[in-house]
Amino acid sequence: MTDTNHPVAYPQDRTCPYHPPAAYDALRATRPLARVTLYDGRTAWLVTGHETARRLLADQRLSTDRTRDGFPVTTARFAVRSRRTALLGVDDPEHRAQRKTVQPEFTLKRIAALRPRIQRIVDERLDAMIAQGPPAELVNAFALPVPSMVICALLGVPYDDHDFFEAQSRRLLRGPTAAESQDARDRLEAYLGELIDRKRREPGTGLLDDLVRRQPDDGPADRGELVALAVILLVAGHETTANMISLGTYTLLQHPERLAELRADPSLLPGAVEELMRVLSIADGLLRLATEDIEVAGQTIRAGDGVVFSTSVINRDETLYPEPDTLDWHRPARHHVAFGFGIHQCLGQNLARAELEIALHTLFERLPTLRLAAPAEEIPFKPGDTIQGMLELPVAW
Ligand code: HEM
Repeated sequence: MTDTNHPVAYPQDRTCPYHPPAAYDALRATRPLARVTLYDGRTAWLVTGHETARRLLADQRLSTDRTRDGFPVTTARFAVRSRRTALLGVDDPEHRAQRKTVQPEFTLKRIAALRPRIQRIVDERLDAMIAQGPPAELVNAFALPVPSMVICALLGVPYDDHDFFEAQSRRLLRGPTAAESQDARDRLEAYLGELIDRKRREPGTGLLDDLVRRQPDDGPADRGELVALAVILLVAGHETTANMISLGTYTLLQHPERLAELRADPSLLPGAVEELMRVLSIADGLLRLATEDIEVAGQTIRAGDGVVFSTSVINRDETLYPEPDTLDWHRPARHHVAFGFGIHQCLGQNLARAELEIALHTLFERLPTLRLAAPAEEIPFKPGDTIQGMLELPVAW
């Protein structure tokens, strides 16, 4: 049981990259809510039960506006928030208006049409990796470039600039200090601002070009909003999926029977992607601030309280997922909250699913003897206060 006088510290580092930290085990016993201590000593609510999570994520009395006083902060790196993030950092009705301008690009139909292009990108990266290796470092050779190239093509950002924007995205998300994180954001804004100005003079074919063309009547209100949208689309569009590809590959290599099952029956793939999303829960720690008192699960969340959603614990709620730590391609995993829920539910989820299916399927089909090229426990992965994934993934075949 968690002790309300000594709340669990949140977040903590995972000890195994595909399981929540052992210290979170105690939180399962006190579902659906617990108290946790954040890095700055402040306490917050931690949502751990699935039903309560979906209810609260759909509750507009919880704000995602990180510039509000008292918004919970889980790492020193995000302690300074001078500007609002587009989409994820704004509440309705402003959020709804922003989302409407970009949603059509991410529908199932649009993403289905993008599949041949994703397949081509995956094939080319694997051709290059196979030509050079083995061994290979899979994060840099495959997991990162695939979603990076896809989001560049979709937005109309030149992939030639990938060293720059990947490095700044890494600094933005992983600091190490608040000043570094802010500086990275400034640089990304300056870069994308210049790109957008260029597109105004010489229009191209990406989503950013389209938004420039539609502005201001039927698009982002001003240049600042367009730049903020471009930043979140570019950063969220490559970092997250890259982590899922690297961590998904590592997890499959650590579960050879599950991998063999998937190989024998590729029709299991869409279910396997959902199950990997559920178990890996790489975006572990969604943040909200209560703007009014909320009665839930016999407790009162007070206006001004910070609320954190641990997706890894929520996605292991036994009432929905028996034997929740076991990978099972046959279970209906679809209702996981690894893409969030409610108005901020991941805009890019159809794209992420398509990329994961194509990348994992093609990787193991082309390299049936793929294996780790270092002892599993020596391969470094990301700390608990950021998106989870592998820092490196040495492989051979
Ligand atoms: C496997 C990869 C991905 C994971 C695990 C993931 C996870 C998430 C989660 C959990 C949220 C909700 C955050 C919250 O409610 O606090 C979110 C929102 C968002 N994601 Fe993703 N995401 C992924 C891929 C992508 C991709 C490829 C894009 C492409 C553009 C994207 C763009 C966004 C945007 C724009 C939002 C904010 C939506 C809004 O506030 O309306 N994500 N994502």
